Parts: sequence; structure tokens; C-alpha cells
Amino acid sequence: MAKFNLNINGKERELDVDPTTPMLWVLRDHIKLVGTKYGCGIAQCGACTVHLDGNAVRSCQLPISSVGDKEITTIEGLSEKGDHPVQQAWLEVDVPQCGYCQAGQIMTASALLEKNPNPSDEEIETAMNGNICRCGTYTRIKKAVKIAAN
Ligand code: FES
Repeated sequence: MAKFNLNINGKERELDVDPTTPMLWVLRDHIKLVGTKYGCGIAQCGACTVHLDGNAVRSCQLPISSVGDKEITTIEGLSEKGDHPVQQAWLEVDVPQCGYCQAGQIMTASALLEKNPNPSDEEIETAMNGNICRCGTYTRIKKAVKIAAN
């Protein structure tokens, strides 16, 4: 066990955990932020995507000891009222089907638009490529990212 001071969604959180614990489980089990989902556990599906200093990262393979004082943002902290432009576009297009992968999709899309506010179709395709959706909502995801970018 080791003590960590984490910056999660703008709040300081102090906790005592095994340093090898993946950030996903710290968020879900210790902080009770369960919007970030477990899909594959091997950094392949994107369901567990959060932001680390604004970059989209897969929290299932990231030991909490590697986070340091970087800012962690989860889907719960992306906006105050669920009204981030990406979330609004998601609602407008009615993207989700089962919904399980959508927090990860939205975190990847919002990190993309933060760095590249007007991405090409190809850039959207490349950025979103690693986020898997079993329901196949890809067409609506791309449409929503375009809307959020405008
Ligand atoms: Fe982390 Fe699949 S659960 S990438």
C-alpha cells in the first residue's frame, strides 16, 4: 500500500492503495466514479478511456503510481451538467445503443477536439479507431464528432 494525492475532476483525493492498481479500479472502486467502464482490461477496446492532462488514455493498464500530479478527468468531470459540446452532439444524433462504450468514446472524441477543433474525416477516423462499439454505432459517432467540431 502507498499514499497518493490525486487530482480527479478538479478535486484533490488522498488514498491509500497498492501502487500497481490500474487507475480504472481506483476510479471505480475507491472513488466510486463508475462512469468509466471496464471492457477488455488489456488496453484494446477504449471503454476505460479518461483524460490525463487532457490526453485520452486507457485507464485499465495504467498503474496509479504512474499518474503523479497529472490531472485526471473522467466522464463525470467532463462538464458540470453533461453539456459538453461532444455530449450535446451525442444527444442530438442519439448515438448510443447499449451505451456501454460511450463514456470512452466521448472522452476520446473530446480529447481529439481539444487538440484539433476542426478535424478532417480521416483524422476523426484515426482518433476514434481504437474505441470499439459492439453495437456498431460508428456512423453516428463520426457524425456527432463532426457536429461537435462545428
Ligand atoms: Fe481498457 Fe478495454 S477496458 S481498453
